[in-house]
Amino acid sequence: MWKKIFGTVKKETSTDLYDQIDQKRLPAHIAIIMDGNGRWAQNKGLMRTFGHKAGVDTLKKILKAAIKLNVKVLTVYAFSTENWKRPHKEVDFLMALFAEYLEREINEMDEDNVKIQFLGRLDELPTTLYGQIENAQTRTKSNTGVQFNVAVNYGSRDEITRSVKIIAQKVLDQKLPVTEITEEIIDDNLYTGGQVPVDLVIRTSGDLRMSNFLLWQAAYAEFWFTKVNWPDFTPDCFFQAVLDFQNRDRRFGGLSEK
Ligand code: IPE
Ligand code: IPE
Ligand code: MG
Repeated sequence: MWKKIFGTVKKETSTDLYDQIDQKRLPAHIAIIMDGNGRWAQNKGLMRTFGHKAGVDTLKKILKAAIKLNVKVLTVYAFSTENWKRPHKEVDFLMALFAEYLEREINEMDEDNVKIQFLGRLDELPTTLYGQIENAQTRTKSNTGVQFNVAVNYGSRDEITRSVKIIAQKVLDQKLPVTEITEEIIDDNLYTGGQVPVDLVIRTSGDLRMSNFLLWQAAYAEFWFTKVNWPDFTPDCFFQAVLDFQNRDRRFGGLSEK
């Protein structure tokens, strides 16, 4: 039973994993907790920062895989509201890395018709990074390809609290009666307002937890865990997760149709 918790990536020789995916039953929204950069580096006797750098290369490959697959939404967890607890040096390195990544990748993402959006308390980020984020969002706003959400300074509880505050203000301003507060209104006021719910959550590096990521949006998501650290995660791992997703029996509280 325990062995089954972790996804195993089949080493295909004749058939490509991608070719086995049923295009008609794709998860519309895939969310990834990109974990294990530090451990990857430490296992190699390197500083943790090397792991973060390698992790950025993986992200580029996985975004390309999502584009190839044509998923509607890909959300990745890059920095949590809790990650400020890390040493200053590591936090500074990560912020600089995000800025460098955006600067380097924005042209190609735009060419690939990707619509990029950042989720989180963005105004608390370094000013230059915040400026780049605003530019990237504005520039790709009308793109119609993959919706690419990057969660930075993101916490799900914080996001839900923020949604509640926006709604409470509307009630105070007498624009919304309490009786009309619905799940849809709470959902609309999250950073992901208007987007489809999460179908599949992938977490790398062996930990089995949500770490305050998309708690509301992933209420009925399927989970796919792997012991592979993020820098070693490949498009094949990604395709395998989608294939395994397609073999799950999603009942949403009802009864199986099988
Ligand atoms: C994930 O890798 C990246 C961030 C949280 C920014 P970690 O840095 O958490 O790597 P581990 O989990 O310590 O190995
Ligand atoms: C979750 O990873 C956050 C990101 C991947 C950005 P963490 O490494 O911060 O999570 P914990 O501390 O192991 O729960
Ligand atoms: Mg971690």
